[in-house]
Amino acid sequence: MRMYDIIVKKRDGGELTKAEIDFFVEGYTKGDIPDYQASALTMAIYFQGMTQEETATLTQAMVDSGETIDLSAIEGHKVDKHSTGGVGDKVTFIVGPLVASVGVPVAKMSGRGLGHTGGTLDKLESVKDLEIEMTKEKFIENVNTHKLAVAGQTGNLAPADKKLYALRDVTGTVDSLPLIAGSIMSKKLASGADSIVLDVKTGSGAFMKTLEDSEALAREMVNIGNNLGRNTVAVISDMNQPLGFEVGNANEIKEAARILQGENVEDLRRLSLELASHMTVLAEVFNSYEEAYEALEANLENGKAFQSLRTLIESQGGDVSMIDDLDRLPKAAYEVEVNADQDGFVSAIDAESIGIAAMYLGAGRATKDDVINHGVGITLKKKIGDEVKAGEPLVVLLSDEKNPTASIDKVKESYTITNEKVEKPTLIHNIIK
Ligand code: URA
Repeated sequence: MRMYDIIVKKRDGGELTKAEIDFFVEGYTKGDIPDYQASALTMAIYFQGMTQEETATLTQAMVDSGETIDLSAIEGHKVDKHSTGGVGDKVTFIVGPLVASVGVPVAKMSGRGLGHTGGTLDKLESVKDLEIEMTKEKFIENVNTHKLAVAGQTGNLAPADKKLYALRDVTGTVDSLPLIAGSIMSKKLASGADSIVLDVKTGSGAFMKTLEDSEALAREMVNIGNNLGRNTVAVISDMNQPLGFEVGNANEIKEAARILQGENVEDLRRLSLELASHMTVLAEVFNSYEEAYEALEANLENGKAFQSLRTLIESQGGDVSMIDDLDRLPKAAYEVEVNADQDGFVSAIDAESIGIAAMYLGAGRATKDDVINHGVGITLKKKIGDEVKAGEPLVVLLSDEKNPTASIDKVKESYTITNEKVEKPTLIHNIIK
């Protein structure tokens, strides 16, 4: 088999066989196929697309290129949740304990953040002494005992994707639906869950800006999951503004803990219940979405979901007194208001700019080696649809600097205020099964 023939076949609109896709993925991972041929093929895929079968085959080949995590020692049906990335997205800290509170095992492997979106592990490490590095045996034992554990991703999962993604990034071939879907799903499938719920974000702060593109991506991913034997459901949720009111690390943990204690931050609580409902139905704990929603909502009110969070923190060595008394979590030195300079209604909040403003404060990493400051972040005071008067705060910056000008400018740039009344955006746009 020759790589040249595979490139030409795809360039001319042909459908690649499993043998051809495997030849490419194996050869490229090992270094036998050079970057210039791999880029020619990804560009041909960019223009010609892939059938559902080709996409599933490519994804499986990327899964098989490295280690896979075997969760079979965990009792029960394991459901994973994946978000395509958003600002203020602390849903994992709500959904994990919530799902665990009805007995569904949650074996969560997460990563760190880079750029404008924060990482699950970084946020969790706001809690003193919390350990996220653990042996596989300890991870499995924790999930079996407590139904919930969160650990740093170990192992060399989907190395073919790592290499291909880096290549796509510099060759203009990131924006290809089968390649994006295959890339995301290869990492999820290698992580070993039985079923998967995807939170596909849509809007200005999302990877996919339009509903149409987000739905198309969701469909591709659901097809891959289902074709490869994992029940997969996608929720298309809004990312035209940050989720909830807090963006940062410790402040996001605080907001999540409050939801678990029954507080109602509308969008955050609603989306968490939505995702958790689909997860627990896939795990066959409930027969219907409605039944699941009602039971999960009850566990937010009766303290069971919050108890699951406490157990998670305790079982991983974290200082649980910080969760019992949220004021003990890391705090910034200053609270700096950024005020509206006109009356009106908030019509847009650029989530990415808010994420960048938080990063400037030290809540995120501009480069891989940056150190996170857990106490800093941003508290939104106004969201889309809210009325605002000139001089009223739009956000409060939680800052260790007295006058964080770069963040102030970025926040000002991110808010749009209009004279006309504005509707609140729809939170959940569609469910794709
Ligand atoms: N995120 C991924 O992991 N892969 C892509 O191709 C795009 C976004």
